[in-house]
Amino acid sequence: MKTSLTKELEKYTGILEKQNKDSVSDPWRLKYHVMPPVGWLNDPNGLCFFNGRYHLFFQYSPSDAMGGLKYWGHYTGTDMIHWEYEGIALYPDMPYDCDGVYSGSALVEGDCVWLYYTGNVKLAGDYDYIYTGREGNTVLAVMRTDGTIGDKTLIMSNKDYPANLSCHVRDPKVWKESGLYYMVLGARTKEDHGEVLLYVSEDKFHWSLKNIFTISGFGYMWECPDMFVIDGRRFLSFSPQGIERDGLDFANIYQSGYCLLDGDFTGDASLGQFKEYDRGFDFYAPQTFLDRDGRRILIGWMGMPDCDYINPTVEKGWQHCMTVPRELTVKAGKIFQYPVRELEELRGGAVTKTQEQGESLDVSISSDVIIKIDDPENLHLCVDHDLHIVYKKADQIFKIEFAPGSPLGGGRTMRGVALESLEEIRILSDTSALEIYVNHGAEVFSTRFYPQIDGTGKDCHTIEFMEGSGFLTAWSL
Ligand code: FRU
Repeated sequence: MKTSLTKELEKYTGILEKQNKDSVSDPWRLKYHVMPPVGWLNDPNGLCFFNGRYHLFFQYSPSDAMGGLKYWGHYTGTDMIHWEYEGIALYPDMPYDCDGVYSGSALVEGDCVWLYYTGNVKLAGDYDYIYTGREGNTVLAVMRTDGTIGDKTLIMSNKDYPANLSCHVRDPKVWKESGLYYMVLGARTKEDHGEVLLYVSEDKFHWSLKNIFTISGFGYMWECPDMFVIDGRRFLSFSPQGIERDGLDFANIYQSGYCLLDGDFTGDASLGQFKEYDRGFDFYAPQTFLDRDGRRILIGWMGMPDCDYINPTVEKGWQHCMTVPRELTVKAGKIFQYPVRELEELRGGAVTKTQEQGESLDVSISSDVIIKIDDPENLHLCVDHDLHIVYKKADQIFKIEFAPGSPLGGGRTMRGVALESLEEIRILSDTSALEIYVNHGAEVFSTRFYPQIDGTGKDCHTIEFMEGSGFLTAWSL
């Protein structure tokens, strides 16, 4: 039932979105990456395939490109590449979610999608918002085949979570397995340890704590947990906060990655070493789901909270985007990520050629470029005279680096990863987004990128081969 607050919020956000539609578009708006209609976007939520369509909900603040009160925005589509905006799906309109409809997930069962999310509440008064002054309510809302969403139900609140936790408990990811429902929740203890809680339910409404996962000394808060099995191997995925940089590892303010989980996930289980999903400047809070063919698909937020770098699109009234959907596969316990094959449908006009050292090539501002490396020793590419992509066999490091003082870098410098050998690089570019896949998705670098920072527009990227050579195929997308 719509409350008068829901109606007010609908009216207000409707005006904001309409204003945006009326405004002139800017050259950094993305062509095939999901971006907010107006304002701010963060985590992907409620990813699922239901009733013949893919659903991608997202953390959405239409009123402020720097973030603010969170709603769930909603896109749908049939191929994970072309998305239609469906409007706002969930409003912060109840006492238990009035300060934000925070992240959550979707369980498809029968004729319904069961949407579980965190209702964020900041208590009024002289509280601190870590330990006492906040509620992280677990809320359920059910979407029917006609796309309407029924009344919300409060499932759990802070009093239901373990007593040793701070008030930071959130981001339910729910799935069904062997006739039972499971939920993982991210949490911070009162002693500032990150954890994932595992809950179980027989009816989707009543949940009991089954297990707790943690790694000693590994961050103060674990956000956006996920658990999935690929080829019989089970993974716990999460986004930890509070980890110190260690050389090339954990270079961003917060991380996202996964651990192999051995043993019984409902009982005696052990976590393997944490591996980062993505080495770029902009990647956080990913979520996975099973697509209509049973592939495990990951979509991440191509952005980073609480960092110094502010995307220049803020001046244009919007900020952030999602990565493209990536299919996950496993080799020797490591997750590989590669753009879903559906993306290839966007390809047009291929250019194929061998690039020698010293040569450069202009490719479309939105393109898919695959480079098979001739010289496995050293490679140095430069994109738009400012972003260097470098591999040196002697160092066994693959890195991306903005030129010192580069306006494109906006203060960002270098990100890298240890790499034994280099065979292939795939660069997906989309006006202001770059995703660089190394060795068929063994490593990925996701980074926002603003060619011609003055925003006057430009219709190509220049790729210079400063060192090394390769066989290149480039499609415009
Ligand atoms: C991760 C996160 C989640 C939270 C949401 C709020 O980026 O902080 O933990 O639910 O964003 O927008």
